[in-house]
Amino acid sequence: MCGIVGFIGREQVCPILLDGLARLEYRGYDSAGVAVYSEEDGTLQVRKAKGRLQVLADMLEGGALLHGTVGIGHTRWATHGAPSDVNSHPQVSRSGRIAVVHNGIIENYAELKSFLIDMGVPFVSETDTEVIAQLVDYFYEGDILEAVTRCLHRIEGAYALGIICADAPDELIAVRKDSPLILGYGEGCNFLASDVTAIIRHTRKVSYMEDGELAILTRDGIRCYNHLMQPVEKEIFTVDWEIDAAEKGGYEHFMFKEIMEQPDALRRTISPRIRDNEVWLEDFALDEDYIRGIDRIFIVACGSSYHVGMVGKYNLERLLRVPVEVSLASEFRYMDPILTPHTLVIVISQSGETLDTMAALREARRLGAKILSIVNVVGSSIARESDVVLYTWAGPEIAVATTKAYSTQMAVLNLLGLYFARVRGTVEEARYHAILEEMQKLPARLEEVLASRDSVQYLASRYFNHDSIFFIGRNLDYALGMEGSLKLKEISYIHSEAYASGELKHGTISLIEEGTLVIALGTYGKLFDKAMSNVVEVKSRGADVLALTSKSHEAAMAKTADAVLTIPDTCDMLLPSLGIAYLQLFAYYVALMRGCDIDKPRNLAKSVTVE
Ligand code: M6R
Repeated sequence: MCGIVGFIGREQVCPILLDGLARLEYRGYDSAGVAVYSEEDGTLQVRKAKGRLQVLADMLEGGALLHGTVGIGHTRWATHGAPSDVNSHPQVSRSGRIAVVHNGIIENYAELKSFLIDMGVPFVSETDTEVIAQLVDYFYEGDILEAVTRCLHRIEGAYALGIICADAPDELIAVRKDSPLILGYGEGCNFLASDVTAIIRHTRKVSYMEDGELAILTRDGIRCYNHLMQPVEKEIFTVDWEIDAAEKGGYEHFMFKEIMEQPDALRRTISPRIRDNEVWLEDFALDEDYIRGIDRIFIVACGSSYHVGMVGKYNLERLLRVPVEVSLASEFRYMDPILTPHTLVIVISQSGETLDTMAALREARRLGAKILSIVNVVGSSIARESDVVLYTWAGPEIAVATTKAYSTQMAVLNLLGLYFARVRGTVEEARYHAILEEMQKLPARLEEVLASRDSVQYLASRYFNHDSIFFIGRNLDYALGMEGSLKLKEISYIHSEAYASGELKHGTISLIEEGTLVIALGTYGKLFDKAMSNVVEVKSRGADVLALTSKSHEAAMAKTADAVLTIPDTCDMLLPSLGIAYLQLFAYYVALMRGCDIDKPRNLAKSVTVE
């Protein structure tokens, strides 16, 4: 979604804004722009361009053409109005004295726009954001802060805002409601940004704005206020990852780099949480009585995080014998869920900012449930609003298609299941220790799988021009297929569907014809024979079958399937953690063969902060 960066300091701002925007490109966008206060003539200089950031950077000769030390920049992911130069941000008021960048949606913009038009205010764009710029201008009588606060009383919806005014060139205003915004503290300079990656080159000291907060940034400090304009003391965090974690480091794509980083990410996630052969969870604020009393679990998430929940349902129900319901956050928030004080809601999110997930969390809290979140981005909104947070510690994930976050989320959920099972006494000692032992071997086993990536590349070259691909599997393999199918769809644009194998004969098998590619997942030993029957079923209708299985079943699978990918044997609940690597690599290589923009797939955004 949209990216915001703002700077006030003593250095030239334009190159800083362009660099920050480049680091936010991964979020997804279709146009970009900057506004800089020009000390030469006291005006706001605004430049915007549809398309890649490079178009804007070229137009500005890398930032050399605009001079000034205060400015705001934006990458826009279109919601109101098509991607175009005029709809790009910053949006400027009719006087040209106020410029605004915005992430989010103003829900009552139409009503405000018609009011302003009636007042004689001309509009040039189709955006909801222009309403903010014009409304601030409408209220402006020489005090920009006063005008902004009056505007905030009238706008409804979600917004992160960066605002500059040509009459107050020593200030940059930041506002947050339901859309992420962070503040960065430098030496003689300060920053605002949608996320840390935009400013980490300049400072590691950041604070996270809360809903309803407004901040005034000057060269010498940042003053923050709550929605009543009472001063707020912000806690300053130090970012603990290195800048190269958010750079490609010689890889052609972030996605490939992140696939290959998974073993290390899993080590970081798992190792510190196993102490003396027991699961140990940091700052874990759920007491044992509460854990014993849980009578139902909801897992709520979107996209790949939801697929982690699907795997989690099978694993947690087996370990805990408690019903686990997995719900898409966008459905959960409107479905009037039945929650009691004994219901635990587990929220999963890489970014910690997904708006649907956030709204579901708030709904669950309103209904009295406890919230445990599994989050990657430290200090994100979902993390801050949860009763308990377990971080995945995967490091920054830049590619839109998630890989290492998915794997580490799954590891955390498995550790949580084991921890709960131990407290509740629903897992035998020997099994518990056997699983823990396997978990510790997982990173090395994953390295083994990744080392055979050439075979996946070969298969991708064989199958990349299929128009439609089916993933079939049962139980854990079905959940795994859902993620494999999503990965393929989002980056290669091939239509694909994940089916529970047993359900094929109830309709979908009519789509199988000579040459249809079916990716048959048969890693789960207990249902291997059933998986084989489904492979035979589709083979006999002409399908080309690419199978994924485990070492013990490789020979049996190879008798029927056209090609087989094999993962090492491990305990059942960890099979998807190994199988997923092949499916990620398959999607990656297919997209590469098809010449797709892998790290920035069309229409997608990394962090989905609109409904
Ligand atoms: O940041 P989140 O985990 O909340 O994001 C949820 C989904 O938007 C995300 O998993 C999406 O499906 C990915 N693009 C999948 O690769």
